[in-house]
Amino acid sequence: MQLVTEDNITELAAQRWGTAHDLRTAELLSALVRHLHAFAREVRLTEAEWMAAVQWLKRTGQISDDKREEFILASDVLGLSMLVVQMNHRLDPAATPATVLGPFHIAGSPELDFGADMSEGVAGTPLFITGSVRDLDGKPVAGAVLDVWQADAEGAYEAQLEVDEARLRAKYSSREDGSYCVRTIAPLGYSIPMDGPVGELISLTDIGHCRPAHIHFLLDVPGYEPLITHLFQEGAPYLDSDVVFGTKAELVVAFEEREPGPTPDGGTSDVPWLHARYDFVLQRR
Ligand code: BEZ
Ligand code: FE
Repeated sequence: MQLVTEDNITELAAQRWGTAHDLRTAELLSALVRHLHAFAREVRLTEAEWMAAVQWLKRTGQISDDKREEFILASDVLGLSMLVVQMNHRLDPAATPATVLGPFHIAGSPELDFGADMSEGVAGTPLFITGSVRDLDGKPVAGAVLDVWQADAEGAYEAQLEVDEARLRAKYSSREDGSYCVRTIAPLGYSIPMDGPVGELISLTDIGHCRPAHIHFLLDVPGYEPLITHLFQEGAPYLDSDVVFGTKAELVVAFEEREPGPTPDGGTSDVPWLHARYDFVLQRR
């Protein structure tokens, strides 16, 4: 007979979950038990608090679907996502650093040519992002696919809207010399979704719920470490208080103001436009 006490319950449960057949799963589950128990002991968790947590998890699951990833959002605002990114992407300091994926990436974006407009039909200030994709030795990486997505000038992503066609997302390829050119509109910083269980928790605190204006990039080039990152607009509000801890100084770039006239895609703009320049540096696997 196993006599359970407050003192031995943690070890009993950790041992039981340590019997998982796969060694790594056993390690993960027994450590999870130990840390959960340590948390409950540290805060002397009451039954009412335990039930409130269970109900919160239930609501988080209920609001989640293919387009709404409330558990990822919870992980993001708790700083867990960025911790996992940091631990798993200890890149050379000269390589472009990684940041969070976020919940709004949509797979299968249309492939666009150098300088083609991924913002067609969406209002906003034209923005060209130009630069190159290189390796740590400065050699150009040709044919690198840059999967790009962003919020619109009101801070909304396609995944949050009812639209049928790809909106503010595209795949561009680097040319032989490593150069790329994205044509889009300037994004706005935005609030993370506050109408669910994560927002409910944030409302209990002084935490700001916004992210600074940024554009997402995913570069998964064979032979190189995959890179998921953002470029942030220099001077944008919330750079110092990003609710998901995603900002890094190396990823902040100037969106320089330009007068109407020639643009980097070889065309011309009748209206003032913005130019951001950034060279992506990939690390070999
Ligand atoms: C985003 O940048 O798209 C994002 C990241 C984390 C949470 C919410 C949004
Ligand atoms: Fe974003």
